[in-house]
Amino acid sequence: MSPHIMVFDSGIGGTTVLKHIQQYIPDGRYSYFMDNAYLPYGKLSQQTIIQRLTGLLIFIETQQLHVDVLVIACNTASTSALSALRELTTIPIVGVVPAIKPAALLSKSQHVALLATPATVKSSYTQQLISQYGQAVTVHLYASVELVTLAEQTYQSKKIIQDKLVAELDSLVIDNRVDVVVLGCTHFPILAKGLNEYFNSAVLLLDSGVAIAKRVCAILTEHNTGWSNKLDANCKGEKKPLHYYATASIYIDEQPVELVTLIDPTQNEKS
Ligand code: DGL
Repeated sequence: MSPHIMVFDSGIGGTTVLKHIQQYIPDGRYSYFMDNAYLPYGKLSQQTIIQRLTGLLIFIETQQLHVDVLVIACNTASTSALSALRELTTIPIVGVVPAIKPAALLSKSQHVALLATPATVKSSYTQQLISQYGQAVTVHLYASVELVTLAEQTYQSKKIIQDKLVAELDSLVIDNRVDVVVLGCTHFPILAKGLNEYFNSAVLLLDSGVAIAKRVCAILTEHNTGWSNKLDANCKGEKKPLHYYATASIYIDEQPVELVTLIDPTQNEKS
């Protein structure tokens, strides 16, 4: 039986993580859940994010989706809500958090940039990551909501609006000693081509996609799901269908998206 892996994000950003997991586990059954009614998460409070994700857990349970691994493919949600969520469910949860540790090891100039949402930048989880793994380097913090919007537009139009990207990056005034940029938001790899162009390919862009795919493999093995790190004999290499859920109407690669509502009493932060 192939494992059911659910990948969650506020929007389309988590597809950059999903892509890596699919490469490692091509015989998995996938669902992708986006809470796009509340996008961008980067502007929400920790309390609202925890409530939305609690709603997701209730949805998984009431719909009896039998999820083997839940991947919170959103740095903002992971840094805000991971520990609270793990208290509420027995489903193994893999979170995506900024790749500070490898960045610190890879930087030669000892200057690393973290590019993330405002909520991720100011979260105590991120501060803890920096004090634990970023001691030997200076971590410069840059928060942007606009880059999330640009990534959503780029995903739909398949074209990066370079002048808007340049304007936003210019406004962040990134320290010119930086040689590694941590893409601390799963939306940002969608902009990788434009980012490389902006930095003249002089910096290394780091995201957590491959590390997460490896972690999901390890969890499936540890949790005895019957999955082993080789292709299912019946798989024949074809990709299993991917089921999309969204909380606001959207088209994804012309695939049908199931519109769902999460139980959430908090309405006051929705604009
Ligand atoms: N993709 C999400 C992340 O990794 C953030 C996007 C948002 O602000 O909703 O942080």
